[in-house]
Amino acid sequence: MTEGRQKATLRTLFAKMQDGMPITMLTCYDYPTACFMEQAGVDMLLVGDSLGMTVLGYDSTLPVTMDIMIAHAQAVRRGSPNAWLIGDMPYMTYQPSVETAIRNAGRFMAEAACDAIKLEGGAEVADRVHNVVKMGIPVMGHLGLTPQSVSALGGFRVQGRSAAQAKKIVDDAAALEEAGVFSILLEMVPDRVCQLITQRATVPIISLGSGPHAHGQLLIFHDMFGLYPKFTPKMARVYGDAGQVIIDGLKQYVQDVTTRDFPQRENWFTMPDEAYAELSRLLE
Ligand code: KIV
Repeated sequence: MTEGRQKATLRTLFAKMQDGMPITMLTCYDYPTACFMEQAGVDMLLVGDSLGMTVLGYDSTLPVTMDIMIAHAQAVRRGSPNAWLIGDMPYMTYQPSVETAIRNAGRFMAEAACDAIKLEGGAEVADRVHNVVKMGIPVMGHLGLTPQSVSALGGFRVQGRSAAQAKKIVDDAAALEEAGVFSILLEMVPDRVCQLITQRATVPIISLGSGPHAHGQLLIFHDMFGLYPKFTPKMARVYGDAGQVIIDGLKQYVQDVTTRDFPQRENWFTMPDEAYAELSRLLE
């Protein structure tokens, strides 16, 4: 699948949407995983600020900085030259002003060769979206459960269950489209709300826990493979328990070293006899 893989572009993403072909998207935070995703042919990779929780062990995404995001985005780009790479704008890197948003979005493009950025929020960030897009930087919107507002939202919970809340999400999606987003991510929104938005949209709608009607699906990599020790959310499908494989291997390693089963002859390096004799003389 890797050989001959074409670079994902806005054109190829919109072609998928128009042809009714679901778009694939995953979070990705490091080089080896990006290499795997490149081979698997994933369309879009999101270097999400969720790495604050999945990789750095914080309780929320709020402590993540631009410098951390850039280092991870660079690693992901080195592993996956062909995916459409999206840098997730961390907390307070676009909220304070349009200028802050443009500067930080520009860093993802210039320093990590991203193709686009993502930011959270609806009508209230439309001016940020509009101005970043005007600078030639594609922007993905993010509605529903927006983790940077976890405190105001009362936790990591489904959004838009009441008619009034759902109407706000529909209106926000329209405002983001109007502002120029190339795509909108809907996180933990009821399936019928996602369907309504998808039917009205002219840009690809991506679902994270928001049902099957969107133009594409996103999962968080760590949830798919048992790599987040705290919990696995309902919206994830688990494709393997890599976490358990690693724990088993680590236990075996501890046992092998303790019982001197490791290392074996093939695991170390030697020097020629003459060189060792010479070293012994030198040390006399
Ligand atoms: O940071 C992230 O990975 C995200 C997803 C949860 C959508 O924003």
